[in-house]
Parts: sequence; structure tokens; C-alpha cells
Amino acid sequence: MVQNLTMRNQSERYQISEVQQDSRKLVLNWADGHQSRFHYIWLRDNCYCSECGDPRHGEKHFHVINVPEDIKPLSVDWDNDQGLKIIWSPDGHRSVYEPQWLRLHCYSTTERENRLHTPILWDREIATNLPLLAYEEVKSGDIGKLQMLESLRDYGICFLKNVPPRLGELESVAQLLGPIVESNYGRVFDIVITPEESRTSVANSGRRLMPHTDDAYQDAPPGIIFFHCLIASNDGSGQSIFVDGFELLQRLRQEDPEGFKLLSKYELCFRKRYDARIDMQTCEPIIHLDSRGNLKRVRISNLFAAPLDMPEEVIEPFYAAYRKLMRLYADNRYWLQLQLQPGELVVFDNYRILHGRTEIEMTNQCRHLRHCCVDRDYLHSQLRLLTHRLERT
Ligand code: OGA
Ligand code: ZN
Ligand code: ZN
Repeated sequence: MVQNLTMRNQSERYQISEVQQDSRKLVLNWADGHQSRFHYIWLRDNCYCSECGDPRHGEKHFHVINVPEDIKPLSVDWDNDQGLKIIWSPDGHRSVYEPQWLRLHCYSTTERENRLHTPILWDREIATNLPLLAYEEVKSGDIGKLQMLESLRDYGICFLKNVPPRLGELESVAQLLGPIVESNYGRVFDIVITPEESRTSVANSGRRLMPHTDDAYQDAPPGIIFFHCLIASNDGSGQSIFVDGFELLQRLRQEDPEGFKLLSKYELCFRKRYDARIDMQTCEPIIHLDSRGNLKRVRISNLFAAPLDMPEEVIEPFYAAYRKLMRLYADNRYWLQLQLQPGELVVFDNYRILHGRTEIEMTNQCRHLRHCCVDRDYLHSQLRLLTHRLERT
């Protein structure tokens, strides 16, 4: 019964019930009561007939500069099976739009809101219900893989168990998502204690690492990060810490909206140097919002923060806001802290999740994690492909 209702709603959603025209746009009323308004310039620009584009490759060959200023239809015709047909003035070009395509691209406020993805924010309570999957499930089928991708999308993080603790396995897991990208530490980076003189990263020391964005000093830091545990420390030190950066920012936004605005407006510089090989610097706001004010990215790294470089009158208010955020992120109410065990792997979104570790005791230390990265674009590409494939089966 419920299913029938859902199917009916779905089909009403994609059924046009009435079409009206005004001088600039077409007004479509749908069987479910929704109204869409499509400007003529938008409709003409989005014709994907074989002359205007190639839908198979998502390519557009038509160019918007070729739309006349006073574009309007010579005629409009529609039928829910054949679609909406428009013949355009003045050149008589014919376009056909599928009702479902139109509804999926409707730019009314409500449909744009519906299309927005809402992340599930979390704090340390997530430990009681960890997004955790068995590697076998992820490796062997679309459903398991989709679950991993959805955890990454929704929680920004996913844990896998039963990834054999040996060399090469990390790469196999990462490649389920996409090609491994080389970072300035190499393709795969071994996090093991190394002598102070030869280390290029603080990761190879025993230092505690406060939660951070990896490589915040790069214009485009790595997107998806993998840590695979081969050997856990033998004394319970060097525990991993993960923090939902979006949860912190949401708190800050509630507690100090003005401070939040400052951190999304002014850029902080981040810098990394070692030997004569690397001197990287980038300046970006800690909080990156989309045009609607939704959180898009967070970039926090105390380790690589360079001196503030902003107007004199902003220095003190910026520090006030920055310190509030830092107090929030140092509060372990937001920390998921755990000891990764051999065979466990964690994958997370470096644009949202901050990660760190507690200090590693240096006596007889054998801890070994391996690290590599994949671009975020592959996460979203795979999500679209898999969702589409599973919907069709
Ligand atoms: C790093 C890092 C965490 C760890 O290498 O950037 O955060 O658990 N390491 O060693
Ligand atoms: Zn066309
Ligand atoms: Zn790190």
C-alpha cells in the first residue's frame, strides 16, 4: 500500500498537467501540484538534440552566445510520453525535453533545497555506532561499496575491518574508489617512527598531532585519505582521533555568528617547508561556504599556520573567533578516539573531517600505519554511477 502510494507520487512528480507561457519563461504545473518556471534562455541553452550536444558524453556543442536576446518559442506542444516540444523563433530550431529531466533540473527554491545533500553531523557518541563495514562486503559487490561511499558522503568517514595487515592491501582498497594521487610524501606513505635527522614529516616522530586537515598548505589538499593499520603500538599510545569539522563549525555558528563570519571571510595562510625541496604556501579561509551559506570545506592546521596577514583592525576580532573555534576543537566531547588495530582501515574526507593522534611513547615503538589519497571527485562520480546502476536493477 505504502509502496503503491510512493510509486504514484513518483509518477505524478514526473507528469506535466499544464503548460503556460509568459514573455520570458514557460510555466509548468505538475500532477503533484508543484510549479516549475523555466526561462526561455535556459531552455534553449539546454537543448541536447544531436545538433546541440551529445547526451551520451554529457557534452554541449551549442553555445549560449548564439541565443538571441529576445528568444521565445514559435510554438509549444507537450505530451507526457513524447515530452515538451518547442520550436524556437527566429531560426525554427526544434527542441524536445523529457518531463523527468525537466523536473530533475527544476530550479525552484524547493527543488533546489531538495537536491541539497545534508551531512549527518556527529560528535564522540558516534563511537557507539561506528560507520563500519567488513572489507569482504565492500570488495565483492556494488551494495557494500555503495554503503562505504554513502558513509563517506553522510558522515565523512568510514571504517573497514578485515583488510589484511600486509603491504599492497591499502592500494587495493584505495583503488576501489579511484587512482591513488601522489602527495608530497609519495604515493604511499609509511607512518613509522624514524630518526629525527631523516624525517620529512612530523608524522614520523612520536609527537601528539592535534586534529588537522592534511596538507592545508596546498591550494587543493588531498581529498579522500586512507590509513591502514599494519601494526598497532604495543602500549596503547598513538591512538587515532577524528573530529567532524562541520559539527564544530555548526556549533561556532550558533555560539558566535559574527566570529563565524570572520573565519569565512578572511584568509589564513598555511606554510610548509623542509630541506631545500619544499616551500609551499596557500592562503584560504578556515571556513569555506557555498553561495547559499552551507558548509563546503573546513581547513584547520595549527601545525602549518603562518603568521596572520590581514587588516590591522581585524587581527584581534579574528584571534577571538579563531580561539573560540580552537577551544571547541580541543574539546574531547567532539573527539572520536580509538586505537586502530592491525587489519583496520579508515577512510575519510579531508575537506570535512579533522584527524590527529595522541602522543606515541618512544620505548620500543613499532606502530605502523600506511597512508594514501584519492581525489574527492572519484567519490562523487562513483556514488552517481553506482546509485544509477542499482536503481536500474
Ligand atoms: C599524518 C597524521 C596520524 C597518525 O600523518 O598527517 O595525521 O595516526 N598521522 O599517525
Ligand atoms: Zn538543439
Ligand atoms: Zn595528518
